Amino acid sequence: MTKIPRTLVRQTLEHVGEEVMVEGWVNTKRDHGKLTFVDLRDRTGIMQCVGFQKMGELTVESVVRLVGIIKKRPEKMVNPQIETGTVEMDVTRYEVLGSAQELPMPLDTDGYEVGEEVRLAYRYLDLRRQRLYNTLKLRSDFLQNLREGLLGESFIEVETPILTKSTMEGARDFLVPSRFQPGKFYALPQSPQQYKQLLMVAGIERYFQFPRCFRDEDLRADRGFEFTQLDLEMSFVDREMVMTTVEDIVKAAVKAVGGRIKQEKFPVLTYAEAMERFGADKFDMRTGEEQAKNILAFAWVVDFPFFKKVDKKDAAEMRDSKSGWTFTHNPFSAPKPEHEEWLLNGEHVGEILTTQYDLVCNGYEVGGGSVRAHTPELLRATYKIMGYSEEQIEESVGHMLTALSYGAPPHGGIALGIDRLVAILRGEQSIKETIAFPMTSTGRTAVMDAPSKVSDEQLKEIGLKISE
Ligand code: AMO
Repeated sequence: MTKIPRTLVRQTLEHVGEEVMVEGWVNTKRDHGKLTFVDLRDRTGIMQCVGFQKMGELTVESVVRLVGIIKKRPEKMVNPQIETGTVEMDVTRYEVLGSAQELPMPLDTDGYEVGEEVRLAYRYLDLRRQRLYNTLKLRSDFLQNLREGLLGESFIEVETPILTKSTMEGARDFLVPSRFQPGKFYALPQSPQQYKQLLMVAGIERYFQFPRCFRDEDLRADRGFEFTQLDLEMSFVDREMVMTTVEDIVKAAVKAVGGRIKQEKFPVLTYAEAMERFGADKFDMRTGEEQAKNILAFAWVVDFPFFKKVDKKDAAEMRDSKSGWTFTHNPFSAPKPEHEEWLLNGEHVGEILTTQYDLVCNGYEVGGGSVRAHTPELLRATYKIMGYSEEQIEESVGHMLTALSYGAPPHGGIALGIDRLVAILRGEQSIKETIAFPMTSTGRTAVMDAPSKVSDEQLKEIGLKISE
C-alpha cells in the first residue's frame, strides 16, 4: 500500500471529498451482505467506514489502516452520537497492522460489570475503554495544573530517594534487601517527610514533588500499597499561610479540569466540632442534589490531639511507641504554640493539640500536613513522650536532630492524595479506576503477576533464606 500521511479521525471532517488514510482499532463491525460497516477508533474519536464484503474478515479490536474517500452522509443517515457523525469513509483499500484474537471481556461497556481479576490481567485492553482514557487524561491535566500553580508561586520540584530508611507514617514498610551489605535493608518511603524537611534546612524554601509513596497496610477502595501524593513544604510560614496557599492552588486546578466546588472559601472545623457534627474527622457536606451533580465539598479540620493511646492491635503503632502514647498524625509536627510548654515538659499529654490540618472532600481525607518541630528540643520532646530513651531517639531521628541544629527555618507543609482527588473528580468509587496499572485487592500487580518467586541464586546473593 502506498503510504499517504495519516489523518486523525476527528480531522476527517475537514477532508470531505478527499482520499485519506486513517489508522486505529476496529471498534465494532457489522456485516450487511455485500457491505461491511466498520467503526474505526483512534485517540480522537470514532468514525464509520463502509467497506466491501472481504472486510468481514476483520476482527473487533484489530489495528487496521484504511484508505478511502470521505463522504458527507445523507441528512437522515447523520449520527448525532459521534463527533464525525456527518461523514463516513468509503473504503478502497485496507491493511491489517495487528490482528486481535477473541477478547477475554467485552470492551464496548464501561467495564464495571467485569470482574477485577480479568480487568487487571488484561489491563491494556481494559484501558481502551473511553471511561478509563478520560480518567487518565483528566489526571494528566490535573497534575499539570497543580504543577503550573506551584511553579507560579515560586515552588521548585525536587526528587527524593526511593531506596531509603524507614520514616514513621504509621504503616508497615516495604523492605528491599541490600546485596552489597547482606542482612541490611533499605525501606521504600512511606512519604518524603524527612527529606522535604531537610530541603527546608538546605534553604530551598519552597519545595514540591509528585512522589510515589509505599505503605504496607490493609487494602481498601481508597488505599493502595503504592499511591501518588502532591507533597509540598514551605519555610517561614504558619498554619494559615500553608492552608491558604494549598487552598488556592487546589481550587484553581480543580476548576481548570471542570470540577465544581461547593464553597469557595473552604470551611475550617476543629476536630472536636467535626466529631460532634459528623461523628468522624472526614465527612461529606453535600446535599443529595449536590452529590448527584458531583460537586466537590472541601473542608479543613484542625486542632487534633497530638497524641493518643496505642491501639494494641496495630502492629505499626506498637512498634513506634514505647510508652503507650503514640502520635495521631505525624511525629515531626509542632504542637500548637500555646501547648509548646506542655510538650517540652511532657505534661497534659492527652490534651496537647497539634498544628496538623487535614483536607477533607466528599467524605474522604484528601490531604494532611502540619507546621513542624523546627528545633531539636521540640522533636526530642515528642519522642520522649512516646517513651524513647536517648539512645533510641538517636537511632530513630538523630540525623534530623543534627540537621535541625544547624539553623533550620520555621516550616510546614502538606501532602495531598492524588489518586483520591482524581477519583472524586471523576465520581469513581475506587482509586484503582484512576491508576493505569493498579493492584488487585489481594495485592497482585496488574498484568505482571507480582509478587513472584525468585531464584535460589538471587536469594543467595542478598543473603536471604526462605523459612518454611
Ligand atoms: P498522610 O499520611 O496523611 O501524610 O498522607 C497524605 C495523603 O495521602 C493520601 N494517602 C493515600 N492514598 C492512597 N493510598 C494510601 N495507602 C494512602 N495513604 C495516604 C491521603 C492522605 O491524606 N508526610 C505526611 C504529609 C505532611 O505532613 O506533609 C503524609 O504523608 O489522601
